[in-house]
Amino acid sequence: MIRFDAVTKTYDDGTRAVGEFSLTIPSHRTVALVGSSGSGKTTLLRMVNRMVDPTSGSVFIDEDNVADVDPVALRRSIGYVLQQGGLLPHRTVLDNVATVAVLGGTPKPKARALAAEMLERVGLDPALGNRYPAQLSGGQQQRVGVARALAPNPNILLMDEPFGAVDPIVRRELQTELLRLQRELGKTILFVTHDIDEAFRLGDEVVVLREGGEIAQCGAPADILASPADDFVRHFIGLDLGDEARTLTTRNVDGQRIVFDRAGRPLGVIEE
Ligand SMILES: Nc1ncnc2c1ncn2[C@@H]1O[C@H](COP(=O)(O)OP(=O)(O)OP(=O)(O)O)[C@@H](O)[C@H]1O
Ligand SMILES: [Mg+2]
Repeated sequence: MIRFDAVTKTYDDGTRAVGEFSLTIPSHRTVALVGSSGSGKTTLLRMVNRMVDPTSGSVFIDEDNVADVDPVALRRSIGYVLQQGGLLPHRTVLDNVATVAVLGGTPKPKARALAAEMLERVGLDPALGNRYPAQLSGGQQQRVGVARALAPNPNILLMDEPFGAVDPIVRRELQTELLRLQRELGKTILFVTHDIDEAFRLGDEVVVLREGGEIAQCGAPADILASPADDFVRHFIGLDLGDEARTLTTRNVDGQRIVFDRAGRPLGVIEE
């Protein structure tokens, strides 16, 4: 479990990135933080692994205040996937994935064997391990980023717009892959995106942010779609744009109310 308890962040130059933010991310669930550029998503995500310290308030992992945990140990225990992959250009793909384990004291051959397993796990041919990042496609690089974050087997995975740099088809493939992985692994995932469709697809819960990290609405995708909190959320999820793809219907199926989009795809169950 990750818990943000009334955190704020004002950067040194006076920019107030996060007003006051509280949220609990239950273990083994995926929570998607979605908001426009500058709404404080990255700032919030980085508070979890102490790459940003809150100006006030605290972040807890289970019962531990992260402020009391050694930052290096903390960062090694948490998977972090960056938007641009953040791969080391002069190391092979395999060594990129093996790096954290080697830093943690695992002998190189064992770390490499583990890394090869991780590549397979994220759907990459382990033979690609001998290449350098620049010799991979954008989508393959993103998968390597995910493999690297998962290699030390962390409980928590922080993902900051990890699929932002790839085309829509590959993006969808990567989302599907993440859903599959998450069914197998059951990590606690904080996923940042500015793409509302991605947030709805991946998040068990979605948190819509306004400027300054203020929560506009938080809930299961189907609940947000069925009853947006206000005009801001309605606009953000595109319900006021005449986007017919988002015209929803609800039907009773086996005694449950299920929301479907116009194409008949089930979006979720409305909890009553
Ligand atoms: N190191 C910094 N110093 C000063 N201001 C910063 C710093 N980092 C971020 N900010 C500011 O804090 C606000 C929130 O930034 P943040 O990076 O958290 O937003 P974001 O939601 O991740 O945006 P994006 O979608 O563009 O990545 C912005 O106004 C940004 O300019
Ligand atoms: Mg960001």
